[in-house]
Amino acid sequence: MTSSADRSAPLVARTPGELRRALADAGTTALVPTMGALHEGHLSLMRIARERARTVVVSIFVNPLQFGPDEDFDRYPRDLEGDTALCAREGVDVVFAPATGTMYPAGRPAVTVEAGEMGSRLEGASRPGHFTGVLTVVAKLFHLVRPDLAVFGEKDAQQIALVRRMVADLDLPVEIVGAPILRDPDGLASSSRNVYLSADERASALALSRSLEAARGAAGAGAAAVRAAAAAVLAEAAAARPPVRLDYLALVDPATFTEAADGHRGDAVLALAARVGSTRLIDNASLTL
Ligand code: PAF
Repeated sequence: MTSSADRSAPLVARTPGELRRALADAGTTALVPTMGALHEGHLSLMRIARERARTVVVSIFVNPLQFGPDEDFDRYPRDLEGDTALCAREGVDVVFAPATGTMYPAGRPAVTVEAGEMGSRLEGASRPGHFTGVLTVVAKLFHLVRPDLAVFGEKDAQQIALVRRMVADLDLPVEIVGAPILRDPDGLASSSRNVYLSADERASALALSRSLEAARGAAGAGAAAVRAAAAAVLAEAAAARPPVRLDYLALVDPATFTEAADGHRGDAVLALAARVGSTRLIDNASLTL
């Protein structure tokens, strides 16, 4: 196996057999699950993994199960060579990049990990079946890699809450580590989908992080004030050119993703999704009310 000390190219495993051989003597293992098109946000997850484990595995798999029929599965950016070079820079030991037919040899699996009620709110309401697709592939990756820990970005707040819930409910022996949202200098949260934005769309999209900043400033005044502060910024952005078309804005309990009551005290997540042009973006802020 490649030593983590040298920054040479990671071993690229394409099949479960190759992965098993690559991890024969792995010791403490950290998994960073990704769909590729790696950006600074992913690199920050790899750095956390690198600090915590002897062996770092990055999975790169654009999972068809988590895309709806009208979503961007076909045009999702793919660049295994570029991604592997970035993994090499971060001292990643193994890249697991299976083909779709390797992960799903019989096509859509008959048995999946259902995301349930918690997976049908917010992102789940806008993207039916999305979280069942995510949890199913994450469970498969956990079984294939058998990591001691797995690092997920907190930008996908509902995703990481559901993964934690799956790990607890199914007694999966893996620690879930959250990595803070990484933002570009203009405030836009790092995302593989940012490459779809034109310069004008990107300027409009900055309203997302501005609305979260406004909400943060209102956190001391309670839940209603937080929602109102963010909504005011987004209402203005809805009239901008190009407009920001809000999908949802919700203040929720971080563990269950149920709506926080007006009198809620303590931790909460303000989560939002919006479309700018044809690009759908999500963002969130962790707040203490
Ligand atoms: O966050 C992502 O990139 C994906 O949802 C994940 C966790 C890699 C599963 O396909």
